[in-house]
Amino acid sequence: MKRVLIIGNWKMNLNVHEASILVKRISDLIQVHREVEVAIAPSMLTLQPISQQIDTRKISLAAQNAYYKDEGAYTGEVSFNMLRNLVKYVIVGHSERRIYFHEDLEVIRDKVTAAIRNDISPVLCVGESHQEKTEGETKRVIHDQVTTALSNLTAEDVEKVVIAYEPVWAISTFGGELAKPSVVKPIIDLIRYNVKELYGEKAAASLRIIYGGSVDDQTAPGYLEIEGVNGLLPGSASLNYHKFSEIVNSAYRLTHKKP
Ligand code: PGA
Repeated sequence: MKRVLIIGNWKMNLNVHEASILVKRISDLIQVHREVEVAIAPSMLTLQPISQQIDTRKISLAAQNAYYKDEGAYTGEVSFNMLRNLVKYVIVGHSERRIYFHEDLEVIRDKVTAAIRNDISPVLCVGESHQEKTEGETKRVIHDQVTTALSNLTAEDVEKVVIAYEPVWAISTFGGELAKPSVVKPIIDLIRYNVKELYGEKAAASLRIIYGGSVDDQTAPGYLEIEGVNGLLPGSASLNYHKFSEIVNSAYRLTHKKP
């Protein structure tokens, strides 16, 4: 069975001191678990100090973004190459980056490629906007986002990718409408089907697909119970150590129930 992956996306919150306090509280509340992997994505600034504070058997590190060139005159950017050996994951293509920072399909593809080139697993976020959903465009949007982002990878590379299905309309930033598990399930299936068509059965079966969009301690079990969901990407709830550790606890409980 694949390890369930719970990644807390802290977004642009918490200074170095606050981040250190939160990570301590989370570490005190969670246990090392064979079937559940816990990761946090703090700000770029806090990755280095937090890496020295955590027990990596308990908590993995993820960056929220990185630039696709390995080095050079790109003022203000941090490359995947610089994050090598510091983080295990990098979130790529989050809707806030697509919308606020105008990252298009090709930029996201280049970031996914750079992550794999630097031995980092990309957590590729895909999801349709509210308008795309009402216009019946969800399948096409997901297909385009998935296929373009993975297009430079081999089937073997794809096995290292995590895809996060995050319907934009369900993310707290953009309205936070609750997505019912019955609405999420067909899209999870669709993502795996798209990957299978392109990279074959083995890559599709190995790929981890997680869900994000207003996940909290109350809604986490419902999403984790969906067949084919291999974890969660909570944002605002991950800044609350009680809620976040409860989400992790739900994953511990459900790994014993899931086939
Ligand atoms: P949210 O954020 O849980 O606050 O909706 C999730 C995300 O944007 O990754």
